[in-house]
Amino acid sequence: MKVLYVCSELFPLLKTGGLADVSAALPPALHKAGCDVRMLLPAYPALQAAFTSLRGKPLLRLPHAGYIGPHWGESLAANPPRLQCGHFADNRLFTYLIDAPALYHRAGNPYLNPEGQAWPDNAVRFAWLGWAAACLGQGLDDNWQPDIVHCHDWHTGLAPIYQRELALREQPLAASVFTIHNLAYQGLFPNTVFDQLGLPPDLFGIDGLEFYDQVSFMKAAIQFAQRITTVSPSYAREILTPEQGVGLDGLLRSRVDVLSGILNGVDYKVWSPAHDDVLAQTYDVQDISKKANAKAQLQKKLALQPRPEGLVFGVVSRLSEQKGLHLVQAVVDEIAANGGQLALLGAGDGDLEQAFAQAASKHPGQVAVHRGYDEALGHAIIAGSDVMLVPSRFEPCGLTQLYAMRYGTLPLVHRVGGLADTVVDCTPNHLGDGTACGFVFDDFSVAGLQSALARAFALKQQPELWKTVQQNAMRLRFDWDIAAQSYQALYRELRPSA
Ligand code: ADP
Ligand code: GLC
Repeated sequence: MKVLYVCSELFPLLKTGGLADVSAALPPALHKAGCDVRMLLPAYPALQAAFTSLRGKPLLRLPHAGYIGPHWGESLAANPPRLQCGHFADNRLFTYLIDAPALYHRAGNPYLNPEGQAWPDNAVRFAWLGWAAACLGQGLDDNWQPDIVHCHDWHTGLAPIYQRELALREQPLAASVFTIHNLAYQGLFPNTVFDQLGLPPDLFGIDGLEFYDQVSFMKAAIQFAQRITTVSPSYAREILTPEQGVGLDGLLRSRVDVLSGILNGVDYKVWSPAHDDVLAQTYDVQDISKKANAKAQLQKKLALQPRPEGLVFGVVSRLSEQKGLHLVQAVVDEIAANGGQLALLGAGDGDLEQAFAQAASKHPGQVAVHRGYDEALGHAIIAGSDVMLVPSRFEPCGLTQLYAMRYGTLPLVHRVGGLADTVVDCTPNHLGDGTACGFVFDDFSVAGLQSALARAFALKQQPELWKTVQQNAMRLRFDWDIAAQSYQALYRELRPSA
């Protein structure tokens, strides 16, 4: 089975969220499962710098196929996009990079300029990603023809529609699979960009990619991909409802027969207390008492009072409305009043950043807030905390709760999406049957969070029970191999003979 894996982020080179972690781990797992996987990404500076082009391998030029395909513009016409073939130093998978300096050679992250604003030509930038995917799917590389083009999130959303348009004139060569990592980010653009996408005019309509008179890349993918997946079974159900469907629930319901949820995994080479470089002393389930060192190390690093008995709550998160952190903000005083501590790492929403900074000044030694993005500090907080707070309003999968469990850090989560699918609450029943691995609350409110916090403080008073729950959590495995098998089964449905 030949699979082209198309995405816009890749850990450790370029990451804004969990999408990058998935792109680093799922393709190798698919390769291990027997798929012939190649990747396709834009040549962002961080990716280009770590890329080795294969010697003697010609650069493939992207075709200019009549009126199909995105706008060229003057700068692209002068310097046409090319596909480089090669691989990254620490990831040997064969990779195509779209070399188009006019589109991708920019400071900032893939989506935003250094001031945090979306690049004004994002529609065309990401149309090119979808177009390159579709061209490769339809025979661009004479040496390698994928059976499946597997695209991820709105950045790649036009691939299925371009694939379909190219195949209308020839025989379709590759099937399309689209994975929704987060339905809330839809790739919405003013209707004026439609003319730059090189698609037949009738596609700007309700049965195409029009969404309330805008262009929606997410809608395009949901409309035209042959299979749609999301990153947890619960989220696959939730997005069918008006509450979680972000305006696309009706369309998703109409495609429910091709929609499924496949839970993400964890890359335990990156996330394990048994061999994590940030830890002065590693530990595992059999010597869990050594986790106390990770906590002391974290308290020292963040200038929290060195109190082994105080319950440390950790947060490593984008500060966005999705993550429900206004609830955490509302309970900071209570955490401190109960002798707890908060270690927060995050960036995003300015009001939340400010509110947490104020909380840190109000509770020196008890609340530490680090604004920004810091991979090593993320590991230190996940390892050194007692409880990981993930009270998301919605969460397609969520990775931090999975990482936390491997470190014996108990997740405290809202029962939604992937959080509901992965964390088993410390109820008497689950404590009894050995499945309890965290704290789960149902009511998305300050009171809901408070009730779970109270249960965490109460369980901490029973050290043996706490340790048992930690061990339950540490023994759980969310292996990418399992997810890879599910994706492979789905590919086989589309291409039984490949
Ligand atoms: P999302 O993709 O919605 O942001 P996930 O839980 O799937 O949520 O993945 C988030 C990933 O980003 C995790 O690897 C987490 O450790 C990391 N992360 C989030 N914020 C930060 C930050 N400020 N610094 C370092 N890592 C972060
Ligand atoms: C998105 C989601 C997150 C998920 C990640 C990787 O960013 O918000 O829940 O874990 O993608 O699939």
